[in-house]
Amino acid sequence: MKDLLRLKTSLTEEIETLLNEQIKVEAHSSAVYLAMASWCDRNGFDCSARYFQKQSGEEREHMLKLFNYVSDLGGRAISPEIANIPQEFESFRGVFEQALQQEIYVTQQFNRMAAKCIKANDFVTFQFIQWFLKEQIEEEYVARRALELFEVIGEEGTGRYEIDKRVPKIKYDN
Ligand code: FEO
Repeated sequence: MKDLLRLKTSLTEEIETLLNEQIKVEAHSSAVYLAMASWCDRNGFDCSARYFQKQSGEEREHMLKLFNYVSDLGGRAISPEIANIPQEFESFRGVFEQALQQEIYVTQQFNRMAAKCIKANDFVTFQFIQWFLKEQIEEEYVARRALELFEVIGEEGTGRYEIDKRVPKIKYDN
C-alpha cells in the first residue's frame, strides 16, 4: 500500500520526511507561543499576550501551508504530535529570548531543507520554500527588535510596562 501511494507523488521520501518534520516544528512553535501568551497574560503583560497569541496563529498557518503542500503533491501529510511545551518562563525578558532562539532555529531548518532540495534536484519544493525563507527575515527581525527593547528602554521603574506596550507596534517594512 505504501509503495502504491509512493507512485502518486513526485516527492522523494527524504523530502517528504523533512517537510513533515517542519510541520511538527511549526506546530510546536505555535504551541510555545500560546504558552508564552498565557504566561504574559498571567503576569500582567496584556499587549505581549496578544502579540504572542497572534504569533501562535501565524505559526499554525505556516504549519498548514506545509501540510497542504505535502497533500497537494500526493504525499502523506502527518498531523503532528506535540509534547513538552514549557508553561513557565523565568522572566519577561526570558520569554523574548526564547522567542528569538525559536525563530533562528526555524531559519536554520529551512536553510537545511533548501540545501537538501538542491541536492535531491527537488526544485519544486525548493521554489515552494522560498516563501518561508523570505518570511523568516521578518520573523527574526521582529523577535530581535522585541528583545532589543529591553536594552533600549530598560526594565527599571515602568520599563517593563513600556516594553509591553511597544512590542505589538514593531513593524517590518522591507
Ligand atoms: Fe513559522 Fe516563526 O516561523
